[in-house]
Amino acid sequence: MKVMVIGEGGREHALAWKIARSPLVTRVYCAPGNAGTALLGQNIPLKATNLETLKEFALKEGIDLTVVGPELPLAMGIVDEFQEVGLKVFGPNRKTTELESSKVFAKEVMTTGRIPTAPYKVINTFNEAIEYIEQAEQALVVKADGLAGGKGVIVCSSKAEAIAAAKSLMVDKIFADAGNRLVIEERLWGEEVSFLCLTDGEDILPLATSQDHKQIFDGDQGPNTGGMGAYSPAPVVTPAMFDRIVEEIAEPTIKTMAQLGRSYQGVLYIGLMIDQEGPKVLEYNARFGDPETQPLMLRLESDLVPLLKATITGQLKDCQIHWKPQASVCVVMAAQGYPGPYEKGKEITGIETAEALEDIEIFHAGTITKEGKIFTNGGRVLGVTSLGGDIAQAIERAYEGVKKIFWDGAYYRADIGQKALNRAYR
Ligand code: AMP
Ligand code: GLY
Repeated sequence: MKVMVIGEGGREHALAWKIARSPLVTRVYCAPGNAGTALLGQNIPLKATNLETLKEFALKEGIDLTVVGPELPLAMGIVDEFQEVGLKVFGPNRKTTELESSKVFAKEVMTTGRIPTAPYKVINTFNEAIEYIEQAEQALVVKADGLAGGKGVIVCSSKAEAIAAAKSLMVDKIFADAGNRLVIEERLWGEEVSFLCLTDGEDILPLATSQDHKQIFDGDQGPNTGGMGAYSPAPVVTPAMFDRIVEEIAEPTIKTMAQLGRSYQGVLYIGLMIDQEGPKVLEYNARFGDPETQPLMLRLESDLVPLLKATITGQLKDCQIHWKPQASVCVVMAAQGYPGPYEKGKEITGIETAEALEDIEIFHAGTITKEGKIFTNGGRVLGVTSLGGDIAQAIERAYEGVKKIFWDGAYYRADIGQKALNRAYR
């Protein structure tokens, strides 16, 4: 089988790495990929949003399966386009992706399916926003309806902050039409967790639990990023909590989507807040998480490719998934300045030394090769990912790897996995 992975981040390197290990696969392509994916297979210099050219390439090359990493091509309808010409592609179609690309639609699904989430209001004008914020008795979160590259959600501590957030989205239009409508909802407090499952529209196959670290600084301080590290499993999800998430959230979501004529095929990422009452949905994503996918792929014992195929053909019911019992931790190394402005083109050294360590994989994100050397080429640069007997050992190993890698301005959080450690020893 020839498999193509679309995207260029750490998530895509981890997916390509796992797919390349499948005995069913003869060749892996990545479009556009990064310096890491170039070592596994062939990078194709096509942007993930270049749907027409990607389709032509897949047809010409006889790609048997395409796996879509990021949300943008999904929201643009890459799955519809590929399916129209008979290409096999993993991911939800355009209308189904609205579960991620429209926060208003996502909230409607939660209401219809009686799925626990924060109370909210859909806002159509700035005046409406002011009125709603002024009367609110709780802290609020202001969300752009549309896609905003992960930056359209503003968690607020005061009414003034909420009004300023609504103004920037609706009046200043910092994310253009994505801010035409808003969802304003109550701020929830608790511990966040990522719950991913494969689904063919009818059955679901949950993946192992994981937890992201969204803020840039240690102790969850500072602005949100795409994710500064992740680990799996997440001990906050006890077996009883796992069952509740499946029954109260994952299953009703898929059922409601099917009732709305939007049968969900692909991976559903549910971002949850766990508080005293239980799990509540913060957001849905229509794709694998980044960096959650890095530890998940390291822990996945089963061949991923038959699972992806069964998702597409509606045969998940017959599938099982097996995980290594070990824990995995991914520490993201980023460019100084990220998530704000940062420089590119710094030479990276030490990757091979780090990779020679036991149970370590280095998943590339913003990297590029020039004349045999590797340079930084993005905000999140590498994900140093380890396996360990327990979370404590996995943390230790991941940071051993991190300490072998250098470039001018490398930055990473020093506390990835700490929350799990606190919980495990409690
Ligand atoms: P989203 O893009 O909806 O995932 O939001 C990004 C991040 O904002 C989430 O991962 C949370 O950290 C935070 N967030 C979103 N909604 C809420 C909420 N109702 N209460 C507290 N934090 C939230
Ligand atoms: N790690 C967060 C995301 O993939 O959206």
